[in-house]
Amino acid sequence: MYSDKVMDHFKNPRNVGEIGDADGVGTVGNPVCGDMMTMYIKVKDGKIADIKFKTYGCGAAIATSSMTTELAMGKTVEEADKITRQSVANALDGLPPVKMHCSNLASDALHEAIKDYKKKQEEKKK
Ligand code: FES
Repeated sequence: MYSDKVMDHFKNPRNVGEIGDADGVGTVGNPVCGDMMTMYIKVKDGKIADIKFKTYGCGAAIATSSMTTELAMGKTVEEADKITRQSVANALDGLPPVKMHCSNLASDALHEAIKDYKKKQEEKKK
């Protein structure tokens, strides 16, 4: 029921952990199941130079977060902000429909981390 890519990212998740001096941090909860996700980003010259995640989510949440970090790494902040749950699911060769809500967690946490980064940049300008 899961694609090989989902299983691979679930068994060997990329970029798990925390970034202590992150430029942006985003935490979201999934209203469907109550699971939690935090994404940390480090930005250099307008690009995502490092990204890590921590989750108390299910296997699909782990796989989608892992793929989200791979998709976002090296992208400009604007490009990364356009990553949707659909682009993550496509990159994983699809997700079972009942598990699509899990991929919300990863893309939403990424968008929150970018929002946090932008807010901090604005504050620095003041
Ligand atoms: Fe909660 Fe998948 S069941 S994130």
